[in-house]
Amino acid sequence: MALYSEKVMDHFTNPRNVGKLDDADGIGEVGNARCGDIMKIYIKVKDGIITDVKFNTFGCGSAIASSSMATEMIKGKPISEALTLTNKAVAEALDGLPAHKMHCSVLAEEAIRAAIKDYYDKNGIEYDPAEFPAPDEDEEIHE
Ligand code: FES
Repeated sequence: MALYSEKVMDHFTNPRNVGKLDDADGIGEVGNARCGDIMKIYIKVKDGIITDVKFNTFGCGSAIASSSMATEMIKGKPISEALTLTNKAVAEALDGLPAHKMHCSVLAEEAIRAAIKDYYDKNGIEYDPAEFPAPDEDEEIHE
């Protein structure tokens, strides 16, 4: 059996939403201290809807595929919905990731949350800080 699903390979070789938004309303940058991979996500927000999203990922194939899929999953969606996106949902949408690659999808969840928090901070929008716990520097696997 192939280690990676066709969807993972597709999103890795043909990633969607790559790049940056010069006029982003929120930017989230996270990294994994163990592997050194870094993911940056830019969002554009209008009336509570994420109207555009781009990413730059300096990382492994699973991290790139996760970023691509995660950006597709939040594009055009309300912020409230994007905040509920879990790394597990991203991995499922990719038809699974190998267990030792699940942490790569965690970066996507964290980067989106960080971008939304940045948007809230820049626009003086109040939120419950408990909603945005600091990302765990250690490798974490939300399965
Ligand atoms: Fe670092 Fe995949 S190995 S994010």
